[in-house]
Amino acid sequence: MKEAFKAAKVTDKVYWVGAVDWAVRDFHGYLTNRGTTYNAYLILADKIALVDAVKASFKDEMLARIASIVDPKKIEIVISNHAEPDHTGALGGVIEAIKPQKVLASMMGVKALDQHYHGACPAVAVRDGEKLSLGNVDLTFAETRMCHWPDSMVCYLHQERMLISQDAFGMHLASYERFDDQLSPALLDAEAAKYYANILLPLSSFVAKTIEKVAATGWTLDTIAPDHGPIWRKDPQRIVASYARWSRQPRINKAVVLYDTMWQSTDLMARAIGEGLAAGGTATRLMPLSGTHRSDIATEVLDAGALIVGAPTVNNEIFPTLADAMTYLRGLAPKGLIGASFGSYGWSGEAPKDLRAMLEEMKVELVGEPVRVVYAPAGEDLKRCYDLGLQVAARLKEKYPPPASSAV
Ligand code: FEO
Repeated sequence: MKEAFKAAKVTDKVYWVGAVDWAVRDFHGYLTNRGTTYNAYLILADKIALVDAVKASFKDEMLARIASIVDPKKIEIVISNHAEPDHTGALGGVIEAIKPQKVLASMMGVKALDQHYHGACPAVAVRDGEKLSLGNVDLTFAETRMCHWPDSMVCYLHQERMLISQDAFGMHLASYERFDDQLSPALLDAEAAKYYANILLPLSSFVAKTIEKVAATGWTLDTIAPDHGPIWRKDPQRIVASYARWSRQPRINKAVVLYDTMWQSTDLMARAIGEGLAAGGTATRLMPLSGTHRSDIATEVLDAGALIVGAPTVNNEIFPTLADAMTYLRGLAPKGLIGASFGSYGWSGEAPKDLRAMLEEMKVELVGEPVRVVYAPAGEDLKRCYDLGLQVAARLKEKYPPPASSAV
């Protein structure tokens, strides 16, 4: 395979030897509509080391990329920064193939590898701040707990001024381009935001701590090499600044109206609410679940100030697509939202009340009472919807005022 699958040079001593997954579309509930990469890095120092591995089905691709540069059996040390199977699924097979002298992981990583692979990935723990000399390349390990799992750690390569950052600063984007300067900034911003919104948002306090911790080391970051997506070499501080901003969850004068419909009653109500929001000066995004994936909603909610949710009642329950999306959003724990609920029903009408209860659990500041309509909305019902939109717009303007000259 090495005739086709080659390593990519990052620096004189570091090569990318990961895999590109063009086909994956689901990443624990997140629609990865542009695929992803599983990045692994070969350090060609006096002692050769491999940092991270790939998903199980890409083991041969990874070994081929390594073999395009060096005999895999010459790897002495394997470092596993994070135990999630997208980075360790192939690890057992890689260990078997190369027989390294040591496999290193964080304290929690050693435990997590054992809990996943039951002895097939025996690792030795490194301490937070521990250093490792590979001869002409020195590494320092830093634990970054909950960024993404309790076992997460990163390593810094001093002579290369490179941070191998594991899940942090990554994105799900399959490409043959390996570096940020080879891709459009708009694409990078959009996919990095989607990744943050869907994976790291509930861990924002840990992200902030990681950024502070790395800043306190005084390390120069010429390169940030994450485990997904492109390597940041043009302006690594740009993604660090984006993470710092997203971890504070700043919100703007924007509302997301999330809904689904059975017979177009809730759809009509959503559109009337949207008209009210827009008339009140709010940037408004209607997101019907019939054509929108939950992970795109999470991305849109990343900077929205308001979330308004609507559903029909079916069999005395919230319409199932809303239950799915709201369970997902509740898990992502967005903070600082304003919200409201609405919906249509035939005889029992639980959905708008249950949606309101979910918003309350999410600590959303509620505006008005749920707007409920029996069967199909009449003119006065649509007026109530429009007015709810206006009310939310007014509260949004107070809480998250638009900049003086902003375009919607
Ligand atoms: Fe890319 Fe948390 O694994």
